[in-house]
Amino acid sequence: MKNSNKQYQKSSNDDSESVDSDLHQLFLDELSDLYSAEKQLTKALPKMIEAAQSEELKTAIESHLKETQEHVTRLEEIAEELGESLDSRTCAAMEGLIKEASELLAEQKGKSSIDAAIIAAGQKVEHYEIASYGTVRAWAEQMGYDDAVELIQSTLDEENAADEKLTEIAESVANNDAE
Ligand SMILES: [Fe+2]
Ligand SMILES: [Fe+2]
Repeated sequence: MKNSNKQYQKSSNDDSESVDSDLHQLFLDELSDLYSAEKQLTKALPKMIEAAQSEELKTAIESHLKETQEHVTRLEEIAEELGESLDSRTCAAMEGLIKEASELLAEQKGKSSIDAAIIAAGQKVEHYEIASYGTVRAWAEQMGYDDAVELIQSTLDEENAADEKLTEIAESVANNDAE
């Protein structure tokens, strides 16, 4: 971790020890937002597992549900290490993605395309998480929060792996349909 290529670009400020307090606050706000997003997912994923038809898809979402619970814990750890706490807010973006997903599941009930729909909804969620964690990781790097960078990276790796797994399952679902 120590030899990571940190980019401190403090052109107007030579004091490398100082952290931009506005950026620090923005970082905490975004973590609180992600905290809400992850907690919403721990409630939404079981519905996707229940609706999924293929065993492969069910298993993949089940294992990502366990990871998602860990993502919640990691966010708490990041805040704790900084001596901060996360506020309670609702991530409106995740709320919207979940609302859309549940409408889609209702529409797709009993159709052969339901797994394709679940994968589509799941990938939208993963991409939202990947974008958000990528952003907070960059800010953590910028502020020299090495432990946070490490924890965020662990989550980011799991989000990316989940997204790739969904792509893989989408291909096998498509192939099965073609047979
Ligand atoms: Fe997550
Ligand atoms: Fe995820």
